[in-house]
Amino acid sequence: MTKLGDWSNKAWIRLKNDKPSVQRETGYYFKPSLVPVSLHPRVIKAGHDVTEKLQILHLYHYLDGVDTLETEIINRSLQNIFRGVIDLEIPEELKEDAYKIYIDEGFHAFMSYELKNKIVQQTRVQYTRKPNLLKTVDLIEKQMMQVSPALRNLVQFLASATNETLISANLLQCKDKDLRSSVSSYLSSHLKDEAKHHLYFASLFQVIWKQFSLHEKKTLGVILPRLIKILLSVNKENICSDLVEVGFSKKEADLIFSESYDKVPMDMIESAAKPALTLFNKCHVFDVKEVRDSFLEEGFRLQSV
Ligand SMILES: [Fe+2]
Ligand SMILES: [Fe+2]
Repeated sequence: MTKLGDWSNKAWIRLKNDKPSVQRETGYYFKPSLVPVSLHPRVIKAGHDVTEKLQILHLYHYLDGVDTLETEIINRSLQNIFRGVIDLEIPEELKEDAYKIYIDEGFHAFMSYELKNKIVQQTRVQYTRKPNLLKTVDLIEKQMMQVSPALRNLVQFLASATNETLISANLLQCKDKDLRSSVSSYLSSHLKDEAKHHLYFASLFQVIWKQFSLHEKKTLGVILPRLIKILLSVNKENICSDLVEVGFSKKEADLIFSESYDKVPMDMIESAAKPALTLFNKCHVFDVKEVRDSFLEEGFRLQSV
């Protein structure tokens, strides 16, 4: 049995009765603690419709983010695995699993798109802006451009492996009973697939990292802490524009944002990144001085790995 287990019977795409429905539901569109601006006193004072609209807009950004990241970064790096573009020794079994995960991610992207459209129809809250994680994709692509062309696919792979081994608080909110059922069932089905992807990417990372030369380890390893921060960062531009859309001035939006996210959340980043950091430690990534130093410079303490 591979890391994906009984994929043919257990993957979300293979389970027929698990589609999002948004009929006759109550509850949050997104857990309020994950939309901290919706808990700001000025926002609460503005009333329930405003806080709910902020959650809906946050959910749209999230769903667009999944759609974009999984198709444009994760799936492109999986193609590079199963098509042999990444010219390293990768066991056939891991190539075949890469194909299966490619299908999973394409399906996740479509389910995200479908749920977003259903909520637009139900709530009449439109979503017209540029998807937020296009910015994440842009930032990852910028990191790819920092290395020689021969190494760019490997940066994309590292971004995928990192993303797939982080703990997503957004997915874990599916356990919250107060979340509306269409959102929680979408998240919990996605979470089940992602738990398998985590095992897969952890084992693929081990296979790939040990084949890198010392030069590649140094060049690529120093990018890892930046990739973690890109994948876990908060998109200020989207959050402020959501606040303006629900009626706050630009100045009020900036103030509400800065009072809701007042410190660089390094504790949060390090705790969400713990499985990835543990994996890197297991693969001796931090044994390369330049790599370890780059993590420390980016604010990671590396105490618990
Ligand atoms: Fe996914
Ligand atoms: Fe995944």
